[in-house]
Amino acid sequence: MRAGVFDSGAGGLTVASSLISHRLFDEIIYFGDTARVPYGTKDANTIIRYGLEAIEFFNNFDIDILITACNTVSAYALPDMRSKSDYPVYGVIEPGIKALTDKIKNKNAKILIIGTRATISSARYQNELHTLGYNNITAIQTGMLVPIVEEGIFSGKVLQAMLEYYFGHLDFIPDAIILGCTHFPLISDAISEYFGNSPIMIHSGEAIVKYLEKQGITHRFDKETSLRIFASDNVNALRDTAKMWIK
Ligand code: DGL
Repeated sequence: MRAGVFDSGAGGLTVASSLISHRLFDEIIYFGDTARVPYGTKDANTIIRYGLEAIEFFNNFDIDILITACNTVSAYALPDMRSKSDYPVYGVIEPGIKALTDKIKNKNAKILIIGTRATISSARYQNELHTLGYNNITAIQTGMLVPIVEEGIFSGKVLQAMLEYYFGHLDFIPDAIILGCTHFPLISDAISEYFGNSPIMIHSGEAIVKYLEKQGITHRFDKETSLRIFASDNVNALRDTAKMWIK
């Protein structure tokens, strides 16, 4: 089974990494739109156009399924992408919500959602969780964490200052944090430590692995997944990043 995995840049590699470690596919074709990252600062029409262009890219490969490993694209472009593809297209928001509701049963739990400006202003996570009865939700746009991760900064003073900037005003410790951007699992430890290591962290990659398995869309293969990486700019840099991140 061959899967396409798409993100604006390197963040989707965290999703690819989960798919690879659980051996959910024979082959993954990864496309990072590194020429145009970040998507999270763009408006809805642009994000939809980029999503449709990704479909055109993946139409060159005989993929069985496309995983949009980007919360920003998942928030805006899935219906249009689905209407232009002849393979199923999955996003990461629904699986993320499912992962949270599996782990957090208390509807009064303090849930923090972080993501790009576009993802948070789409209110996709917030609305869905409200509909499910969760009533203690805080959502914060933390878009500057995207370039920090793209720079390879996963710890240290700059990241700490950024966490203080975004979270310093909060007067509570979240029970769960939805990492609503696929770049953020790379700084999950630093975020968790900032809050005293107590929140449950929801990660798009782990969430979609569970989701695909539960729906019977794929199963675990015996052999290792092969990974081919494509990018719209500087593909060697993305390949180097993949070597560092994907074990
Ligand atoms: N990795 C993308 C996401 O999950 C966001 C990065 C970007 O702004 O392009 O939303």
